Amino acid sequence: MKPMDRVVDFINVNRDRYVEELKQFLAIPSISALPAHAADVRRAAEWTSGALERAGLQHVRLMETPGNPIVYGDWLNAPGRPTILFYGHYDVQPVDPVEQWTSPPFEATVRDGEIYARGAADDKGQVFMHVKAVEAHLTQNGTLPLNIKFFLEGEEEVGSAHLDDVVRAHTELLASDVVVISDSPMFDRGIPSICYGLRGLAYYQIDLRGTKTDLHSGSFGGAVANPAFVLAQILAQMKDRGGRVRIPGFYDDVRALSEAERAEWKKLPFNETRYRKELGAPRLSGESGYTTLERVWARPTFEVNGLLAGFTGEGAKTVIPATAMAKVSIRLVPDQDPGRIGDLFEAYLTKVAPATVSVTLTRMHGGRPWMTDFDNAYVRAAGRAVELGFGKAPVFTREGGSIPVVSTFQEELGVPSVLFGVGLPDENAHAPDEKLDLGNFHNGIIAAAFLYQEIAGIDAR
Ligand code: BES
Ligand code: MN
Ligand code: MN
Repeated sequence: MKPMDRVVDFINVNRDRYVEELKQFLAIPSISALPAHAADVRRAAEWTSGALERAGLQHVRLMETPGNPIVYGDWLNAPGRPTILFYGHYDVQPVDPVEQWTSPPFEATVRDGEIYARGAADDKGQVFMHVKAVEAHLTQNGTLPLNIKFFLEGEEEVGSAHLDDVVRAHTELLASDVVVISDSPMFDRGIPSICYGLRGLAYYQIDLRGTKTDLHSGSFGGAVANPAFVLAQILAQMKDRGGRVRIPGFYDDVRALSEAERAEWKKLPFNETRYRKELGAPRLSGESGYTTLERVWARPTFEVNGLLAGFTGEGAKTVIPATAMAKVSIRLVPDQDPGRIGDLFEAYLTKVAPATVSVTLTRMHGGRPWMTDFDNAYVRAAGRAVELGFGKAPVFTREGGSIPVVSTFQEELGVPSVLFGVGLPDENAHAPDEKLDLGNFHNGIIAAAFLYQEIAGIDAR
């Protein structure tokens, strides 16, 4: 038998075992956002390093950071062949509102060919595909067709705050020819895709204070400003009626969509009505002059992620709240810079905020946008591998989500990234009932195994 036939046979025979092992990974509540889960995050890192070792990876270790550890492991016994740096994350999002889950988020449950659990798609399931693809090569052939380094972090869902420093301090350890990431959805069920662009992110908290304490709204209403109302007024000035962000200078660095790219996207099988109905939205909304895909993939947005002010309990209470708070975030596109956008936002906020309240702006995490020219040998190799795994050639997409380290890899290591994800748009990432299609998981393992084979044939030197 040919080496790749042996690998694919092994993957097919072990299909059910992979799911059982993935269930163990998904049972660990590695929620990076919640300090109460710090021990679980570490346990997930340890479980992951065990899984790398069992797959046959070498030099497996935890790299400590000021935050959560990074799991590293490599296999470098193919001198002269290309080296892949595989990046992913073992941390997950919180599970609230937990009562909306059909089955408990950390007891992975299979229903209708999908595995339901927090982290199933984002990103444990997709990381595990690659671990199993390596294992299949090593157990069947005793070797890999190229060199591979696994670099798995535990802080992606909280903005990868410590990762840039780690990358900068370990450029030799991470030296490679291409970064491979599986942490994004496919375009649609049955339509695999390669993603060549991500939006960036800048996240803020706005705190308003009007008075020392809450006040009787009868005794004092009319005498002082109401921070909840002022906050609403401030937020209302962030976008115009056409959905354009009103922060002066906001669009200065936005790279215009090329007509060629727009034309490519128009060819994608995107059904807007179905999209709207699946989201349960009465009507879609966004910046005028752009299609839905253009707005999500290539245009920046300003979003309110959460609001807190005043009395929200049952019944009615006549009160003027002393404070109001908003969490807001801005999705960035090439070539916007989170730091510069933060300065522009702060200046505009200062300008629109009335003197009746005190305003504090806290800059939280950020990440730069990323985009690559997808006509390169690695992307073509990934295209062939996806076709071999899924029986269908991929389409090329950008995504609205963010993976902060991708632009860092490009800048610090000077290597391109290939994003081949097998989630689905309805995977419920960050939401109740997160799931991963087990057919895509299985085909993803096969595609990953072929990806190593295909990249191995590229002359990297
Ligand atoms: N896997 C996602 C990123 C993603 C989402 C890529 C959708 C492509 C499509 C990642 O885990 C994520 O959720 N990132 C955060 C980053 C933030 C916390 C800095 C995001 O996009 O909100
Ligand atoms: Mn992710
Ligand atoms: Mn995520």
